[in-house]
Amino acid sequence: MSTARTADRGPRAVGLGARASLRVLLAGAVTGVLLLGLPFAAQAQQPIGIKFSHVTTSDTPKGKGAEKFKELAEKYTGGKVKVEVYANSQLYKDKEEIEALQLGAVQMLAPSTAKFAPLGAKEFEALDLPFLFADEEEYAQVTKGPVGKWLFHKLEAKGISGLAFWDNGFHMVSANRPLITPADFQGLKFRISGSKVADQYFRLLGGLPQILAFSEVYQALQTGVVDGCENTPSNYLTQKFYEVQRHISAADHAHLQYAVIVNTKFWNGLPAEIRGQLDKAMNEATDYTNSIASKENEDSIAQIEASGKITIHVLTQPQRQAWKTAMMPTYEWAKGRVGGEVLELLGKAIDSRTH
Ligand code: LMR
Repeated sequence: MSTARTADRGPRAVGLGARASLRVLLAGAVTGVLLLGLPFAAQAQQPIGIKFSHVTTSDTPKGKGAEKFKELAEKYTGGKVKVEVYANSQLYKDKEEIEALQLGAVQMLAPSTAKFAPLGAKEFEALDLPFLFADEEEYAQVTKGPVGKWLFHKLEAKGISGLAFWDNGFHMVSANRPLITPADFQGLKFRISGSKVADQYFRLLGGLPQILAFSEVYQALQTGVVDGCENTPSNYLTQKFYEVQRHISAADHAHLQYAVIVNTKFWNGLPAEIRGQLDKAMNEATDYTNSIASKENEDSIAQIEASGKITIHVLTQPQRQAWKTAMMPTYEWAKGRVGGEVLELLGKAIDSRTH
């Protein structure tokens, strides 16, 4: 995997003024409304356009998954569908892309499940609970099973359809001092991506969590707006966070996954044959993404280590246990945030012997 070029981190939505980004949103919305309003037969000459917006670079598991979906969707529909992938917050930042999907300015997204509260689906934050998944296999079982289905069912009332869960492995945490014991977090400001569950576990460690868009993290770390953050190796590498942090701790304390979502009105308005072909493309792109995620992250950590710019601390079992003990009250707290139903489903899905 190659590291992102500096230019990749260049002119993104973060650089747009508020008026410019509003213009993009409105222009996209008008196109979306026009397309949604026309019968597909009337658009027969034109390929059906799918704008797929996301916030990571193209050389991450999600970026590669989006490109794979494009390739397969265009192939299986014989060119009747054209997918435009906008990576690296090039079109929209975190919150804007959710609004853009609702307005029909884009048709497909794959936000991390930590960012679903603005959609009115904070139950997705249950997947951010600390030390929830023992390993990747357990994560995959849970999202493929009743929990995943239940979560997607929650989206239906919001006019959004969930198509797939995409993996990006376990988070690490970084700062400019070693984070080994819970006391090391005391008083440090950590960027979080949106989940109140993550907010809670950082607070339990004595940290001061703060939500920032993904595209703003590098600069926030560089300028000291925040002292640290959590993310997966592929995101540390491709966003170059490792260049502006001195220490990373790997304790597998939380997991990062995405839900691929579409605007339901758009999706259900597609001719059934095309929707079937796109479903097939999505299923295969999902298998592909989930099959490369672990390796991509292993390669990323090796590259970060080889850079010599940061010290990586892999926590021992007792050290991990101390984090876990400190973060465990998050579960009780989460009942009031995500509700008992999803917690119960999760409890059933996860083999309690592993925890
Ligand atoms: C983050 O905001 O840290 C992640 O959700 C980014 C991503 O999409 O991997």
